[in-house]
Amino acid sequence: MLFVVAQVLVGVSSVAVPSSNCYALDNSSRIVDFSSWIGHFFEYEGKDTDVVIRFCKDVETRSQTGYVDFGQFNNLNHFVAGSGGVDFVQGYYNGDLLNCEQSYDKLGRTAQVNIICGSCSNGQCKGELGCICNVTQESSCSIFVELAIPCEKPGPRAFEGFTVGFHPRSWEIVYNGMTQLGYEKSHHEFSFATEQTQVTLYMTAIASLSTLVRKPKIQILPEKGLKVTLSGSGATGSPPTTLTPTLLNVEWTCQEARDTPYEVNVTIPIEGYEPIQFFLTKICEHRQDQKGDSTRGWAIFGIISCIFIVTSTLFCVGGFIYKTRMERLHGIDALPGMTYLTACLETASGVGNGYSRPEENASGYASEASWEQPSATAQGTRKQSTRNYGSI
Ligand SMILES: *[C@@H]1O[C@H](CO)[C@@H](O)[C@H](O)[C@H]1NC(C)=O
Ligand SMILES: *[C@@H]1O[C@H](CO)[C@@H](O)[C@H](O)[C@H]1NC(C)=O
Ligand SMILES: *[C@@H]1O[C@H](CO)[C@@H](O)[C@H](O)[C@H]1NC(C)=O
Repeated sequence: MLFVVAQVLVGVSSVAVPSSNCYALDNSSRIVDFSSWIGHFFEYEGKDTDVVIRFCKDVETRSQTGYVDFGQFNNLNHFVAGSGGVDFVQGYYNGDLLNCEQSYDKLGRTAQVNIICGSCSNGQCKGELGCICNVTQESSCSIFVELAIPCEKPGPRAFEGFTVGFHPRSWEIVYNGMTQLGYEKSHHEFSFATEQTQVTLYMTAIASLSTLVRKPKIQILPEKGLKVTLSGSGATGSPPTTLTPTLLNVEWTCQEARDTPYEVNVTIPIEGYEPIQFFLTKICEHRQDQKGDSTRGWAIFGIISCIFIVTSTLFCVGGFIYKTRMERLHGIDALPGMTYLTACLETASGVGNGYSRPEENASGYASEASWEQPSATAQGTRKQSTRNYGSI
């Protein structure tokens, strides 16, 4: 009750699904939330058997021979608007199976509760918080119960059949025109990660009502720091149908990092109805607006690799030239590939054959001539080291 009053006072802007499955849409698609009635106990005293209803839970009969279960409530479209003098109809299924195995597609005993908003036509139970007016036993396997209660005030009008989901055939966000729990307001625990820069939503509507769907609008809180762009058929307000869902691509770019997520308020106006409204939240741990951030990293890596390759080549070529010169002098190594490899290894290891032999070259360093015409000692060592290369 309080909830309904609060909603009326605040002014409802979104159509959120009630907190329980104990609700129905009335004959003009308004949500009537009976959550506060769950488990409410109604008893009807008959001649031999009594009938007990626990609202939105179950129906049973009680007699000398014991209790018989006449069905459980589960809202798989079993709480709907009625017709004639009946406002709502509830179906209770899967009661006791004994002797009712063949009835109602093996659903066991069943009960149908016809709800009248107000009082019984037969004038029963005046001034009470509702009562059972009448019970009709159709067979031993099914009963009809007429229940009069002061019904809840109808809430906002749902745009029936409208869905929004993350896949073409899903409706995590909006189902039957009602925003689902988790999306009816911003929940920071269920935010999209920084890395997720795009999400695609799919919308469907009943074909005959699809032209009532208008272009979506977004509002971001705080206004600055997150760039959101909408695209796709859904962004232009194309009519979605059940067979051809429209796409709404939401692309977001973090322009400012924040400790708390950004709130994205998506409103889809519907002609003649309350707008569909839902909230998505987005974490921004770092900026993403410089498109190059990662590209730049690769560019730097590329340049460094390039420099490395060029330097290595220069070193190797240098070493190669040096080696060939030595070869020409001594005419030992006949394999150019080997020479090249040797030169590279030599250069890389830094202990070049020709660079670090102070003790060996001590005598040969005396003049340039010593390179042209090496001393016997130098030549001997060279031969030895050449043998070493061959053994690599
Ligand atoms: C809807 O139900 C109310 C009573 O619950 C009734 O007065 C009204 O005529 C119904 N409207 C339609 C269109 O059936
Ligand atoms: C109970 O309902 C049946 C039909 O559903 C009706 O024929 C009968 O008159 C009702 N009894 C009373 C006391 O209202
Ligand atoms: C969401 O945005 C709509 C307009 O797009 C606005 O009317 C509504 O007040 C906003 N809701 C919140 C909670 O910010």
